[in-house]
Amino acid sequence: MKYLFELSKDHNKLPAAEVFSCLKAEKIDYEILELNEDVAIIDTTGSNEILNVVNRLSHTFNVNQYLFSSSISIDEINKTALKNKIEKKGSIAIKYRNRSKNVDSQKIVKTLAEIYTKNMKVSLQNPDIEIRALISDSKLYVGLKLYEINRTQFEKRKVQFRPFFSPVSLHPRIARALVNLSNIEKNAILLDPFCGTGGILLEAGLIGAKVIGNDIEEKMIVGCRKTLDYYGINNYSLLCLDIGDIHNYLKAVDAVVTDFPYGKSTTTRGENLIDLYSRAFQSIARILKTGGRAVIGISRNDLIKIGKLYFSHVETHEFRTHRSLTRYFVVFKK
Ligand SMILES: C[S@@+](CC[C@H](N)C(=O)[O-])C[C@H]1O[C@@H](n2cnc3c(N)ncnc32)[C@H](O)[C@@H]1O
Repeated sequence: MKYLFELSKDHNKLPAAEVFSCLKAEKIDYEILELNEDVAIIDTTGSNEILNVVNRLSHTFNVNQYLFSSSISIDEINKTALKNKIEKKGSIAIKYRNRSKNVDSQKIVKTLAEIYTKNMKVSLQNPDIEIRALISDSKLYVGLKLYEINRTQFEKRKVQFRPFFSPVSLHPRIARALVNLSNIEKNAILLDPFCGTGGILLEAGLIGAKVIGNDIEEKMIVGCRKTLDYYGINNYSLLCLDIGDIHNYLKAVDAVVTDFPYGKSTTTRGENLIDLYSRAFQSIARILKTGGRAVIGISRNDLIKIGKLYFSHVETHEFRTHRSLTRYFVVFKK
């Protein structure tokens, strides 16, 4: 089946990378038909359930059955839509997202409506069938909506709404994306060795991973436990150790996802970042299984090279979170 993922465009590369990591984690074989910042269109084989992917995603708006793409010429849209009619019956709505400032969406939607709503009851509020049109500067993508990603859940889990607060915590949507980039499978073991409030562990626990957290600060571990319990995560264990000691207490883990201390609001106990990061990468390399991914948040581009001493570098996603703070989320593989 062909799927059209409507990417959130919160970032230029990360939304698509998240989709492909989730497909891999859920063991869905696919071929990429088209990929850009707006959409990922794939053709899947096998019978594994796409819903498992849908339930993990954080940077996609909708997952649709792919119908067609075309240039934005009304004539071509008309011809292509006529060749791609749908069989389903019921009430229908045509909804669109216009990513272009230059393209008039109304003409496009009217053209689609003339073809798809013919002899059908239109229901904008609660349609049985929703046709989705995604308009970019030069292209139109059309799909039949299958699933909408629940993105409000991430807002509701922001650290200020959780039982334990600290400003160091990542936004849950970012935390979920990092967990997904690790390719972690359900029931596999994910470690966050600098877990802080537990924002990463929470997102990993919610998709069914077994989670292990560690932090040098006891108050963080106490708070992290409260958060995991509050959200009903039971498959977890927590340690309160210096990063250099964790290998003495842990066996191999399947993935590591973490946000390194930045030395600004988060404590490094006076240690300089180069020394701390060298020790951290060394420790992680000792316990990550071969072939496993380490997804690491780092505040300085120049420190990524320390990780390259221990791992192969897969990709880096740069995020400007604040006027003065850029974070690099780096995917490594052992
Ligand atoms: C950026 S914060 C992690 C935030 C976390 N992702 C969250 O959602 O709350 C980094 C954490 O590393 C911990 N830390 C600093 N130095 C450490 C060390 N040497 N060993 C283990 N943890 C350390 C800090 O206490 C802090 O909680």
